[in-house]
Amino acid sequence: MKFHYIPSEQRSKADALLLPCFEEEGSFSYTHLVPEELLATISLLKKTGDFLAKKGDLCFLYTESKSFPRLLLLGLGPKSGVDGEVVRESYAALTTALAKKKLSSIVVLLPHIGERGASWTLQAAMEGMVYGSYQFCRYKKQETGYPELFFPYPSLDEFFVIHQRVVAFKKAMILTRDLVNMNANEKYPAGFCDSVLSQIEGSGIVCSVFDEKWIQQEKMGLLLAVGRGSATPPRMMVLSWKPCLSDPDHTVLVGKGITFDTGGLNVKPSGSIETMKDDMAGAAVVVGLLSALAEMNIQKNVTAVIPLAENSLGSRSYKPGDVFRARSGTTVEITNTDAEGRLILADALDWSKTELAPTRIIDVATLTGACEVALGDEIFGLFSNSDSLAFEFEKAATRAQEAVVRMPLYQGYNERLKSDIADCKNASSRVGGAILAALFLERFVGKLPWIHLDIAGTAFYKDAKGYYGKGATASPLRTLLEFFVSSTL
Ligand code: BES
Ligand code: ZN
Ligand code: ZN
Repeated sequence: MKFHYIPSEQRSKADALLLPCFEEEGSFSYTHLVPEELLATISLLKKTGDFLAKKGDLCFLYTESKSFPRLLLLGLGPKSGVDGEVVRESYAALTTALAKKKLSSIVVLLPHIGERGASWTLQAAMEGMVYGSYQFCRYKKQETGYPELFFPYPSLDEFFVIHQRVVAFKKAMILTRDLVNMNANEKYPAGFCDSVLSQIEGSGIVCSVFDEKWIQQEKMGLLLAVGRGSATPPRMMVLSWKPCLSDPDHTVLVGKGITFDTGGLNVKPSGSIETMKDDMAGAAVVVGLLSALAEMNIQKNVTAVIPLAENSLGSRSYKPGDVFRARSGTTVEITNTDAEGRLILADALDWSKTELAPTRIIDVATLTGACEVALGDEIFGLFSNSDSLAFEFEKAATRAQEAVVRMPLYQGYNERLKSDIADCKNASSRVGGAILAALFLERFVGKLPWIHLDIAGTAFYKDAKGYYGKGATASPLRTLLEFFVSSTL
């Protein structure tokens, strides 16, 4: 699927013309001037009442027109309700349907909506089409042969900027979702690194993979503990995109990389374990983000730090009741081996803080079922020790139209992390679980401006929903990209 610019006023020719339509009291309307010879076909359709332009509805009409033998009507629902999300969803539905048709070219018209500029609509429509065309092809032959899409647009320069961004987003989205959807037996810690290395080759991102020996030398006792039970040892992966060496500003992104979470000896039951190959979605999305920054040649220094381990159960597994020493020197009593994410993140956060001189740290993690219970599967949680950083991030999420809610780092709950035999414990009750996990992480970042994103609910869908197919969603990639590259919409 390729996107092309054509000047607005150009008369064109293609296999189909796509016309967005609004639902309107038992009929529908559209805001474009339609070629004269197509009007009769539309009015015949209107008489039947077969198409009401409900959101995502599609209708193929066949015409006598020499320019467009097919007219494709796309429903957006009532005009008053149309926003970026509706555009994404409807244009995604269009691409999903196109996968089964054999068309080679379509002229795609966009709706005129509200006060938002045309560039905003163009970006949302293209993003929708990118989501809608995603197919996970690793283990199953997929539909191929999307048509070339031609967008009549007023400005070539503006089109070019949006196009470049959407292409970078698409690559990053595919990379992120493919990594998450991949079998756990292929993306064990070293496998994940190999896979990422092969994908980012030639991008300008500098990459290091540290093995278990290095992790031992670094005294990352928590990452080692979590990785102990697996036949595939832990790794630390560091990806760095540093185009402005003279600029001291440096963001570190830390992504949770549990390549499969069995729960360890506190094993997860059926019903909870099935989707746990997604427990490296934080790692995948920070890789995706870096690939987008490099693709767009964004002049900001960003490093991704990814602790990787498989939380397995076996004779060597770390055990409830044991105490391990973190890289920071803090000792941690393991009260639950299923609260493993915060352990590997703690060592990665500490290393990032002491070795990388970051200006700010953002960690992304499928961290707690409690966050999913609290916010559901469309909103991710944000915790931060910095109001200004949190505010900047929330603004980016609003622009990107991904839902986030700031959650409290309520210090009173620190009591519950106290241990009788160590400096703290890794888990206590499930009540307030997302906050407790965030408080645990905070101990390892101290005063450094920091955001923790809990994406346990939003990273992976058991069933297809909206413009997301079944499986990985790449959440919160749009927000992360918007945070670093504010769109001028
Ligand atoms: N990986 C899970 C969290 C999770 C749950 C991610 C659902 C995606 C969907 C995490 O490691 C975990 O198991 N957390 C425990 C913590 C508890 C033992 C304190 C949880 O949330 O139940
Ligand atoms: Zn767990
Ligand atoms: Zn986990």
